[in-house]
Formats: sequence, C-alpha cells, structure tokens
Amino acid sequence: MSRLKDSFGRVIDDLRISLTDRCNFRCVYCMPAEGLAWVPKREILTYEEILRLVRIFIDLGIRTVRLTGGEPLMRQDIDVLIEGLIRLAPDLDLSMTSNGFFLKDKAPRLAAAGLKRINVSLDSLQPERFERMVRREGQLVFKILDGLQVARAAGLHPIKLNCVVMRGYNEDELVDFARLGRENDYQVRFIEYMPLDAQGAWSMQAVVPGAEILARIHTVFPLVPASGHGTEPATVYRFADGRGSIGVIASVTEPFCESCNRIRITADGQLRTCLFSLHEYNLKGLLRSGATDEEIADSILAAVWKKEAGHKINQPDFVKPARSMSAIGG
Ligand code: 5AD
Ligand code: SF4
Repeated sequence: MSRLKDSFGRVIDDLRISLTDRCNFRCVYCMPAEGLAWVPKREILTYEEILRLVRIFIDLGIRTVRLTGGEPLMRQDIDVLIEGLIRLAPDLDLSMTSNGFFLKDKAPRLAAAGLKRINVSLDSLQPERFERMVRREGQLVFKILDGLQVARAAGLHPIKLNCVVMRGYNEDELVDFARLGRENDYQVRFIEYMPLDAQGAWSMQAVVPGAEILARIHTVFPLVPASGHGTEPATVYRFADGRGSIGVIASVTEPFCESCNRIRITADGQLRTCLFSLHEYNLKGLLRSGATDEEIADSILAAVWKKEAGHKINQPDFVKPARSMSAIGG
C-alpha cells in the first residue's frame, strides 16, 4: 500500500512524468500555432535525475508510471530511460502518452526496452481536418494509423486512443472513432476539452459533454456500463455485442477528483499535485542542491498531503493554471 496519502484520504500510486515540454504538433486545444517559449535544456531533468526521483517515488508506493510530454518521443534515447525504469522495478506498470508521430519508427525499441502499453492522441480520422487540428502537414493520419499497427505488432497492449472532443471540430466523428476502435481492438477514450490550452480560447460552449458523446455512439453501437470509475479517469462502456469498449473522460461535466490517485512531475522537475494546481514543489532544486533521498521523500510526502480537493472549473473562483497542457504533462 502506498505511503503517499493526502488530507482527504486519497492514496496516490500513479505518477506522470513529463520528459519534455517540446512538441512537433500544435494541437488547437493545447498550444498556439507559433509554439511556446521552450524550457532551456539545462532546466530539463536528466535521465539520471528522473531515475533517482522514480526510485524514491517507488519506495513511497508509486506503482504506475506514465511518460508524457509535450511529445515524449522527442527526447533522445528514451529506450535507455525505459530500461532504467524497469531495472528499478521489473513489475512497474509503465506506459506512455504520445502523439504517435514517431511510433512507426520507435515502437519496437520501446517495447523491447520494457514499455508495456501506450496511449496515442488522435482527434480526427479525416486527413485534412486532422492537419488543421494539429496545425502540421504531411499525411499525418496515415502515419499515425500505421504507427499504431507497428505498436501492436511490437506487443504493446492495450493500445488506447485519446480523442479530445471539441464542438465544431470533430463531434461528427464519434461513431467513426467507435468503429475504428471496434475493428482494431483499440480502446478509444473520448476526452472533454479542458481549460488547459495556452491561448485561453477554452469556453464551456466548446465542450461536448460526456453524456452527449455516449448518447451519440450508443444510438449506432449500443453500449453497456463496464465499470465504475475506480481510480482511472475514464468511465468504461462495453459494446453490447462484446466487440471491445470505449472510455469517456468527463473531467469538466462530471469531475472525478475525489477518486484521483495521480501526481505529476513537469519536465523541469516541479511536482504538481493536480493538473490544475496553482502551486508547485521544486524537486529539481532539491536534486541539484545536494538533498538526501530522505529529504526529498519528506518533501514529497508533505506536498502530497496538501493535494487539492479538486479542480474548480465549474466554480466562479476558478483560476486557470499558468502552465498549459504541454508544459504540465498530460
Ligand atoms: N483538454 C483536454 N485534453 C487535452 N489534452 C491536451 N490538451 C487538452 C485539453 N485542453 C490531451 C491530449 C493528450 C493528453 C495528454 O491530454 O490530447 O492525449
Ligand atoms: Fe503536442 Fe500533445 Fe499538445 Fe498536441 S496535445 S500540441 S501532441 S503536447
């Protein structure tokens, strides 16, 4: 049982680590077209620093580690980090969230190094629309779909697709995504658009509620509830005919903060106890000023204890965090 507990009785055993804030895409719900001011390389945690931190986190009770970004595969030699993580804890539930662009080339090495599963962001199956959403060109949908097949052949399982649903962009593709998932054994997870875009363009009008997503798919492919929340953010529904499942992540309209078991480390080594945190804990400062493992563990325990009750998106005193999604880590 994890020793990481907060003052609301939640047990924290899932750590998300952002490996870089950089990305080769510019998704409309995440980054401005011109990109952001990247964190200087010297401020980014080295693999040695990440491995030291993860060792401490594992001792405290972390069992699940997810590598995120920006785009994590923009970091060089990521298989070396994966091997190091698996050496720390062979039974670690190690996964990654990626935009899929490099998967075709890198999936076999990732799997061989010990990565177990992967989540790939994919928001449209229509080639031109996809390129408008990620603001990049070059037959990208095909490249990513090919990458998913390579990932599967390499043994990564399950493969989950993250689809951020935005009003006026891709809400007419829900059934197409459901079909893709059914036919290829991918679990598509439909995510409500959250106010974490760097441009501040988010509005409630652009959110397609989870209940609406579910209803639209259900009329074509009947669904049955598969699970309660547990600690995972997605509510899972099985197709009534037994051909796979989908997930719905209704962070905005049906927050699940009371069952949250996650914390995050940004690429520049700041501990965040919530996606929407307004305060960060400077683990990099501790690492680089000679703190002992015990001192670092103590500050992690103290920070986790103060984990926020939840986000306040639906409340008048909501304050958007200064960092946007690519700088936090999804
Ligand atoms: N709202 C919802 N999901 C987002 N993501 C990035 N920005 C947002 C946002 N504003 C998703 C990405 C990726 C995951 C890490 O977070 O699509 O799949
Ligand atoms: Fe890159 Fe992911 Fe942000 Fe898209 S959502 S710009 S893929 S970090």
